[in-house]
Amino acid sequence: MQTLFEKYRPSNLDGVLGQEKAISKIELLLSRGWGSRAWWISGASGTGKTTIARILAGYGADDIYVNEFDSADQLSVSEVDRIEQEMSYRGFGKGGKAYIINEAHGLRKAVIRRLLGLLERIPDHICIIFTTTKQGESKLFDDQIDASPLLSRCAKIELTNQGLAKVFAEHCRKIALSEKLDGKPIQSYIKLAQNCKNNCRQMLMAIDAGEMLS
Ligand SMILES: Nc1ncnc2c1ncn2[C@@H]1O[C@H](COP(=O)(O)OP(=O)(O)OP(=O)(O)O)[C@@H](O)[C@H]1O
Ligand SMILES: [Mg+2]
Repeated sequence: MQTLFEKYRPSNLDGVLGQEKAISKIELLLSRGWGSRAWWISGASGTGKTTIARILAGYGADDIYVNEFDSADQLSVSEVDRIEQEMSYRGFGKGGKAYIINEAHGLRKAVIRRLLGLLERIPDHICIIFTTTKQGESKLFDDQIDASPLLSRCAKIELTNQGLAKVFAEHCRKIALSEKLDGKPIQSYIKLAQNCKNNCRQMLMAIDAGEMLS
């Protein structure tokens, strides 16, 4: 059975809640072209980073050409070499290929060095998306690695953690109602959002576990 948070993962940018500023920046950039671009999406856990990354990837690449690395420390220099080779060929269907690298603050020094060159010549059918829970550039990486050469090659999208409690509470309550897992007033959902630090995934996990039944 699919978890609630996967079942209700937004499949388009209109469905991403509470991130209006970030979404308008994304839409503006997208209107100027999908490929030849790397994105750097930062924000707190469960606020929509991977969701946005997958939506972005889907604009130009069919599902089989969307490659997702759950954690940047899985990415080795030889993997980046392989990606670069693969990048020279277009995909079928929409034609593009996308690479999503989650937990990007875990990128290793040698990989970052290898990526710098690659990110300067991204073909127009390729889109690379990094996501991270770490904000800002200072102390982004371990080992005193300077983040600015990498980040300056990316379009930076910062997700907010502000003003989400009410939006997520209403959204999660609607889901709970349609799944027959609801039994508590809206205030309980706002409380849930606060207890979960506005992590929508965590809220939906709690609802899945029956915590909002009366
Ligand atoms: N802004 C949002 N609007 C609607 N649903 C959301 C939003 N953010 C998160 N969700 C819900 O929470 C789930 C997890 O979101 P997502 O994977 O995008 O989080 P994340 O920011 O990548 O978190 P992490 O840092 O833990 O990887 C989604 O499948 C979706 O159901
Ligand atoms: Mg994620």
